[in-house]
Amino acid sequence: MSLDELARGAGRLVRDDLERLPSVGVEEAGTGVVVQRQDGCVLACSASAARLVGLPGAQLCGRAPIDPGWEAVDEGGKVLRCEEHPSIRALDAGEDVRGAVIGVRRRGERSRWLLVNARLVTSPSLRIVVSSIADTSASQMMAWDRERLFASLRFLVDLLEAKHPSTAQHSDRVGHLSFVLALELGWSAERAAELREAALLHDIGKVSLPDALLLSPNALTAEEYAQIKRHAVLGARIGADALSAEQAGWVRHHHEHWDGRGYPDGLLGTAIPSGARLLALADAWDVITSGRAYSARRTRAEAQAEIEAHAGSQFCPEAVDGFARVLRRGADRPPRLRRAQ
Ligand SMILES: [Fe+2]
Repeated sequence: MSLDELARGAGRLVRDDLERLPSVGVEEAGTGVVVQRQDGCVLACSASAARLVGLPGAQLCGRAPIDPGWEAVDEGGKVLRCEEHPSIRALDAGEDVRGAVIGVRRRGERSRWLLVNARLVTSPSLRIVVSSIADTSASQMMAWDRERLFASLRFLVDLLEAKHPSTAQHSDRVGHLSFVLALELGWSAERAAELREAALLHDIGKVSLPDALLLSPNALTAEEYAQIKRHAVLGARIGADALSAEQAGWVRHHHEHWDGRGYPDGLLGTAIPSGARLLALADAWDVITSGRAYSARRTRAEAQAEIEAHAGSQFCPEAVDGFARVLRRGADRPPRLRRAQ
């Protein structure tokens, strides 16, 4: 079998894998196929693989994956040794590697990021690794930009909440409560985690408010209250680049009331996005049990009575029921926050 035939056959082998793979950027970026021997030596590669790695195919074939002209790095920028490459790991472990991300760079150039899926193929006369590679540089950079932005916004929230002892770590607690409540109501762990992310930024819009207003122990004037209410819309806008559109919607609507008397849009009942209904409840619980500059903290029993008294008016009744079950299990208490309280 010629190496070209080997590469074509290998391409068919991994095509099914790629179609099942949900990772971003695979189809649109095009993929390449690399066939390697156990020692890492490249036996064959498609033209697109050579292009992605940045070497002509003829140069790539017959070489180990580490070459003086270029190197591969992990997501933290550490140069990978031959045995650390996903394809070689697959071979050593006898298992497929799915969705590994490595950077490749020629000396003096910027890294390009490749998504690697590797599969060990054996026959009586053959033991090779077939890898598909796809350029995910654009989506990878976007993901990292988003992570950096999210971390910066979280830092702003921390600063904001540190201004008063009762608000310190408020968003962390609301994040935890939203998460456990979502799980209680049958959400998948993945979606519950998305809600927690939104909850961590739900009050970011308050960065626009003066301290005198945020920390005021007095009842608010109508004008001051109108000013406070703007934080929901502003928060969704500030968080838009760090959150999905759905998550930003949860932030925007976290002060809507089940009876339509909330803000900013006066949405009624199930017109309120489901995540916002849970977030509203978690937020209120933490405000009641932590207290504020303008109100003393109340006990858990008092807070539960308050929440239940507003089921069907302020809060979604199903969410209130679910929250009662969370409280019964004691799951509202986060096992450990990011910093000691
Ligand atoms: Fe809020």
